[in-house]
Amino acid sequence: MEIRVEPQGRHVVMVTIDNQRRLNAMTRPMMAELGRVWDELERSDCRCIVLTGAGERAFCAGADIREFLEPPVPTRFREERRRLDFRREMDRCPQPIIAAIRGFALGGGLELALACDIRVAAEDAQLGLTEINLAIIPGGGGTQRLPRLVGRGKALEMILTGMRVSAAEALRLGLVERVVPVAELLPSAQALAKSIAEKAPIALRYAKEAVVSGIELPLADGLRLENDLATLLRTTEDRVEGARAFVEKRKPKWSGR
Ligand code: COA
Repeated sequence: MEIRVEPQGRHVVMVTIDNQRRLNAMTRPMMAELGRVWDELERSDCRCIVLTGAGERAFCAGADIREFLEPPVPTRFREERRRLDFRREMDRCPQPIIAAIRGFALGGGLELALACDIRVAAEDAQLGLTEINLAIIPGGGGTQRLPRLVGRGKALEMILTGMRVSAAEALRLGLVERVVPVAELLPSAQALAKSIAEKAPIALRYAKEAVVSGIELPLADGLRLENDLATLLRTTEDRVEGARAFVEKRKPKWSGR
């Protein structure tokens, strides 16, 4: 199995890309599989997801370059759409997705990390959109998501040169949110996921939707979306439970309603 899905406690799921021989480069079937994974997790009671790469060398070294040499294979329409759409699915996935990045995150591998909601990198991480070295450009959202995080000039510098940045530089640029020692990568990403998973599920869902959908909208429309979602949250049982638990000085017990 090249995409592993393993529960970590009650509400956290760990998704691992495992193609270690090729630094977790993603083949077409792996991309389609990842699309199916988001679909399935969306319907599960998982509240937060950690995405990582197997082994010690890479989060993901991008698309499997060997496939670039193969003649195009006829794929079923559904499978092809999944393959192209699996990063968009991550925006639509109601649960927050945390990338735990160790070693290389290059090309489609960085695009995958960019499609996650929060990025935690190990000190050995090297990140870059290296497609230009292969006479192509990022085709999985990289030209759009990178400038939204680091600005137009830095994004163009990275995309036009194919340069790699270190974890420390990525943190400075706002390309990753946290940098931790290598040995602490998975424990700290999992601890972050667990702390998120302890929050009320509907509030988590709407918080992600407000930010992820809102960022694409003009401010006035984004504010309206926020207002709609905030208003909906005023009708939940968990909202009452949150306030009651605060007053009673106890931990809240979320029902997810
Ligand atoms: N697709 C297919 N195979 C890949 C790969 C990719 N994207 N990235 C690495 N591999 C394979 C290598 O071919 C090699 O396989 P081999 O042992 O059968 O020859 C194995 O993974 C290890 O990589 P190697 O290049 O020997 O390791 P390295 O430490 O010298 O270099 C990288 C590591 C990441 C710098 C280098 O592998 C690389 O540049 N990879 C391509 C990254 C890229 O451009 N991705 C964007 C694709 S659009």
